[in-house]
Amino acid sequence: MESITRRLLTNCFGRPSGPLGRLGGVLMALGNAATERHAVALAAPAEQDVVLVIGPGPGVGLAAAAERSAHVVGIEPSEAMRAMARRRCAPLIARGRLRLSPGTAARTGQPDASVDVVISVNNLQLWPDVPAALAELHRVLRPGGRLLITAHEKLLPTHLPALAAMVHAAGFGSVRTWTWQPPTRMAPTAALVSAVRV
Ligand SMILES: C[S@@+](CC[C@H](N)C(=O)[O-])C[C@H]1O[C@@H](n2cnc3c(N)ncnc32)[C@H](O)[C@@H]1O
Repeated sequence: MESITRRLLTNCFGRPSGPLGRLGGVLMALGNAATERHAVALAAPAEQDVVLVIGPGPGVGLAAAAERSAHVVGIEPSEAMRAMARRRCAPLIARGRLRLSPGTAARTGQPDASVDVVISVNNLQLWPDVPAALAELHRVLRPGGRLLITAHEKLLPTHLPALAAMVHAAGFGSVRTWTWQPPTRMAPTAALVSAVRV
């Protein structure tokens, strides 16, 4: 029974696929929109910044990032979510401000030191190897580049101080953690980590 529930949740939210994935995409676009937009506002990319959005799902934060920056790349392993994000962001893609690419946090496929800002919303809990993913994000960020990660606090794989220590160990400085309550009704508390690539 537990494995059936787990499989349903994975198909809906973890690695969305098929009709359940599309349903999950609709639910995430509604339920997580405030956190997605909050993360982009906190990361505050400038027009000329190159922004990497990890695990954008249906693309709400991706659109918000591409409205601020002309060089946004969404790294998303799920074909169903890439398709949803492509539809949501079609005008921004047509204007050349945004592209979607298959990949994961640990394998973004981006060149070294090529990115100014990395934003990850609600997928840290799905990274199979958090230190490996942080090392990859450190590799692609230029020195001085900014990292902003947020996830539902109750789903974090470790407590926030332990996560901050991992971010620090990956080579980041100015590591800060805090929590935030999204204004959406019944939305779970968000845990946030910000850091600067040293
Ligand atoms: C819970 S959804 C969150 C989507 C969106 N950011 C939001 O908050 O609504 C998790 C997303 O992360 C993607 N994902 C799963 N494993 C990942 C990984 N290892 N690296 C990056 N993204 C991943 C999934 O395909 C899915 O689109």
